[in-house]
Amino acid sequence: MQQFPTIYSINPRSFRRCKQQILKGELVAFPTETVYGLGANAFDPCAVNKIFEWKGRPNNNPIILHFSKIAQLDKITNLTKLETIAMHLIGMECWPGPLTLVLRASDIVPKEVTAGKDFVGVRMPNDSVALKLIDECGCLIAAPSANISGHCSPYTPEHVSNDFYNRNLCILDDSENKNSRCGIESTVIKIEEISTHCLKITILRTGIIGGNRIRKILKEHNIPFELEYYTRLGNEESAMDCPGQLFRHYAPMIPAYIEQHDTKDVIRNGLLHNFVIIGANGSLGELKHRCLKYIDLGISILDVAKNIYSVLRLAERVDNAKGIIISVKNLDEFTDKDSDLDMAIHDKLMRCSEGHSIKIIQ
Ligand code: TXA
Ligand code: MG
Repeated sequence: MQQFPTIYSINPRSFRRCKQQILKGELVAFPTETVYGLGANAFDPCAVNKIFEWKGRPNNNPIILHFSKIAQLDKITNLTKLETIAMHLIGMECWPGPLTLVLRASDIVPKEVTAGKDFVGVRMPNDSVALKLIDECGCLIAAPSANISGHCSPYTPEHVSNDFYNRNLCILDDSENKNSRCGIESTVIKIEEISTHCLKITILRTGIIGGNRIRKILKEHNIPFELEYYTRLGNEESAMDCPGQLFRHYAPMIPAYIEQHDTKDVIRNGLLHNFVIIGANGSLGELKHRCLKYIDLGISILDVAKNIYSVLRLAERVDNAKGIIISVKNLDEFTDKDSDLDMAIHDKLMRCSEGHSIKIIQ
């Protein structure tokens, strides 16, 4: 029998259908304020395994649990007093929102979710559709981004159906909160008490909620902590702490390069007719007529975050394109010092290009 995904508009019947699917161990794709999630009942190990199978996800990569009320964390976490205080302080300020906390897990969390680790990632998404789905199902929803592993994250229901074109997948429509999306994945932060009365805060994945915001919250309440960024751009083995942070990630299906002046790899502008150029605020716009297609991400870093995955997915589908060249140098200055958005975008671009840069010459 032929299998294909279906996009459901938001109404009570769609939620009933999605609830049925989740409770019988099937997967459902749902919008969040960051990217689409591919969800399963967190307490159904077979359903969680299906996520790994469908995505082609390495099974050492843990999955985030999505919840709708902080009280739901009591049973699935096993925190020290200080960790509990920090979780509440940070959670009260940032949830619902684009933040995942990685916390010491209790025994009831299936090892399929934690990938056998002692910690579990949790997040309350700021999206009424996602929250309603969690409430209707009455269970926590385990969900990674709804893309084939390694590919660009999905921003629209069509991105999800393109990646899972051969699966019977219910996809909830995103029209309800379309304008309030930030477009890139949540910040992932691990909290652990390393010595009595001192927390270690590790930013495993940067995002719109930045380290400064977390520092402020903890300082205001006199919580002793050390904060560091997990920076290793690892291969499979060295990335064990955060297996999702592999070097190649968020990548389009054709090679991508970051345009840079001081790099040794060069391309003659006469060869640009094989390339799609992605600019921002007009960068490389002077080459518009020399390349196969020119796409602009917008004027600010917030536009880049919103559009980056859609534009990369558009670029990889341009007929005869051999590669993509990206330049985001012209952006308006971003002044929100509590956000790590600059760092997050840089990180996504590094990963989508596998660190390859190129200089355009005459
Ligand atoms: O915005 C988001 O976070 C989206 C939406 C759907 O919620 N989800 C998402 O999931 O991006 P995923 O699986 O694509 O990325 C989650 C990241 C991965 O890098 C994973 O390794 C890390 O979070 N992570 C999850 N649980 C973890 C844990 N227990 N320990 C360490 N890292 C964890
Ligand atoms: Mg992902």
